[in-house]
Amino acid sequence: MRLLLLNSGPVATLASGDINSPLTGTDMSDTESLVLNGENGIYIDGEIVSKIAHTEELAQEFGTEDNSTLRVIDCKSKAIIPGFVDSHTHLLWGGDRANEMQLRHNGLSYSDIANAGGGIQKTVQFTRNISNDSLSKLGEKRIKRALDFGTTTMECKSGYGLSLDSELKLLEVNQILSESTPMGIHSTWLGAHDVPRGVAMDDYVDELIHIQLPAVVDQGYANYADVFCEPGWFSLEHTELIVSAASKLDLPSRLHVDEFADGGGLQLASELGAISGDHVGHSSESARQSASDSGVMQTFLPGTPYILGHDLETPLTQCIENKWAFSLATDFNPNCRTLSMPFVGSLATHRLGLSPMEALVAVTRNPATTLLNSTEGEVTGSIREGGPADLLILDSPYIDSWCQMPGDNPIYKTVKSGAIVN
Ligand code: NIG
Ligand code: FE
Repeated sequence: MRLLLLNSGPVATLASGDINSPLTGTDMSDTESLVLNGENGIYIDGEIVSKIAHTEELAQEFGTEDNSTLRVIDCKSKAIIPGFVDSHTHLLWGGDRANEMQLRHNGLSYSDIANAGGGIQKTVQFTRNISNDSLSKLGEKRIKRALDFGTTTMECKSGYGLSLDSELKLLEVNQILSESTPMGIHSTWLGAHDVPRGVAMDDYVDELIHIQLPAVVDQGYANYADVFCEPGWFSLEHTELIVSAASKLDLPSRLHVDEFADGGGLQLASELGAISGDHVGHSSESARQSASDSGVMQTFLPGTPYILGHDLETPLTQCIENKWAFSLATDFNPNCRTLSMPFVGSLATHRLGLSPMEALVAVTRNPATTLLNSTEGEVTGSIREGGPADLLILDSPYIDSWCQMPGDNPIYKTVKSGAIVN
């Protein structure tokens, strides 16, 4: 099928320079090179953007009427942006932890709740008892919501199994969903999310390295390894052991670091050559500089401190000033139940000092560069001739509207691989 978008408003192509690299500093707001203004149109042939040109030129070449092989959409001056790339989600889990808000209200911290039988361990109990079929149905429902909110590529972690069988099951369901839904899915093994009840830390790290990891690699569905590297969870030493073992088996890492305290996690991520350090709310300035020097993406997840009632601790403007590469993602999980990148964009712009264009780069092109080794074909996160047709028609003539409707949905149409999917 072919798709012809006519009479668009501005198109945020975000395709300046080398699209395999993230944009930093003032390049993130350089609208001259990031946005096409004027009466444009986009011609999509199959899954690929084939031509971007003036509407009249495209109308002359391809016509303006639908036919059996062409669908024509009159965009009526609505703005167009790339599909969102949500590079940090915990998509698959069962159960419900909505009760934890009242516990936080009563004064319990995240660790207190975990120690009292809530948190990750509670979700693990639910998740282990769910069939593949029910997990797939949950995943499908969540993916549908994410597509509605404009996410076209998503990183999905395991991590609520914490045993060989259940971790493999989660990765298998990720794989099923990547084949049965339009979402571009990149899968991450997070066996090191927590230590299963009744098991000693050292024994579990042994199991992770000698039993889970080889089986995960053998299964072939995971593209990355992740560790919850945080004081009280996995130490720097354990993280290094797991990441090094994974890297020997060609599984690159993206790591949870410095979420609640500066435990030196981002510094370690840089030393180990991880692809991304995620959360990074409490990382030191020198660790951020090291991350930048070693090409490690800082991925901020402001939805999590938001729901935990913490300061957002997200130095986004400092990243711009220092030209540090950064991304933004949802961290969708049983505790942070949003799949909306526009909501994350609202936090970034209404609360954290980014401009809408800077925030847009941080939810599209920049995270896409962290998924290059497992990309579904072409590099996503920008709109360019020859690139994948993953794009969003907004319900507004302004690009900036993408993050200006907290709690509401700014997306008119989600196009994934050339098909309208919302
Ligand atoms: O990224 N911090 C570790 N993991 C998740 C939360 C897990 C949970 O509370 O279930 C996160 O925020
Ligand atoms: Fe997370």
